[in-house]
Amino acid sequence: MKVILVNGSPHTDGCTFRGLKEVGDTLIKEGIEVIYFHIGNEAIHGCIACRKCKETHECIFKNDSVSKFLKLAKDADGFIFGSPVYYAGMNGSMKSFLDRAFYSSGDVFDGKVASCIVSARRSGTTATYDEFNKYFGISNMIIVSSKYWNNVHGQYKEQVEEDLEGLQTLRQLGHNFAYVLKALELAKKEGLAKPNKEKPIFTNFVR
Ligand SMILES: Cc1cc2nc3c(=O)[nH]c(=O)nc-3n(C[C@H](O)[C@H](O)[C@H](O)COP(=O)(O)O)c2cc1C
Repeated sequence: MKVILVNGSPHTDGCTFRGLKEVGDTLIKEGIEVIYFHIGNEAIHGCIACRKCKETHECIFKNDSVSKFLKLAKDADGFIFGSPVYYAGMNGSMKSFLDRAFYSSGDVFDGKVASCIVSARRSGTTATYDEFNKYFGISNMIIVSSKYWNNVHGQYKEQVEEDLEGLQTLRQLGHNFAYVLKALELAKKEGLAKPNKEKPIFTNFVR
């Protein structure tokens, strides 16, 4: 069982990564393989709504982290996305990354397990948590929660170290995430199939 932890922060070893690592270390203790994927300082093009991916099943921008990630993501069982809070939302590169990854390749996420972690100096965490969960909720994913909303506080990673409650929340998230992955594996072994999906119906509110 494999989980990809995606760090949207330009800081590969900052607060967001400190939070992701708390989840990752817990998953490793639970016997789950983890891969860290950093978006870093790379400029990620936003979705241009060309809808070419609806014909080709891939994004027209092929040479950035999104396509690298999607190749890895095919074999993953779960995903944990992490972002610093920028103006009470996820950071810009993470937003562009998720728009393109989910819009072009929803099948890569369908039926898999997902969660997020967010890091802020002070506030905007729950708005960012909501923002993440909307990608999972529209993609037929199994969302894992913790004992609190998944956030840590700090401007520098040393400050996250002092957020003992935040880190504990993320350890609990790791245990819960591993439990869900193991339960799904058991269900598969027992022959319990994932639910069928109906043929999609699209309705418009404006006619
Ligand atoms: C452009 C920008 C906007 C930010 N907006 C917020 C904000 O709305 N709320 C907040 O608490 N912190 C805000 N911060 C601080 C970061 O969210 C915070 O320091 C975060 O933990 C940094 O994570 P990192 O070390 O992984 O990059 C902002 C930082 C930047 C650079």
